[in-house]
Amino acid sequence: MGKLIFADTGEEYELKDESPIAEICEEAGIPFACTEGVCGTCVIEVEEGMENLSDFTQEEEDFLGDMDNERLACQCKLQGGNVKIKF
Ligand code: FES
Repeated sequence: MGKLIFADTGEEYELKDESPIAEICEEAGIPFACTEGVCGTCVIEVEEGMENLSDFTQEEEDFLGDMDNERLACQCKLQGGNVKIKF
């Protein structure tokens, strides 16, 4: 189990390991469009716990360029542990 934490509101959601974060992000108000890592609508900033997210997908590498603290929410899975994001 891990937690997805929204930095702006302090809301925390528990997720099983290897769960996609997209659904919770969508409920929290992050906009989605393609859901395939192409449009960039769902970009989020990871404040803490980047190591607890799945590896960058090829789509994220193509869209984001440098792999620093931005991710595409439609592409990430929580691998366990806590991840704090903002959008
Ligand atoms: S919804 Fe298009 S990149 Fe995530």
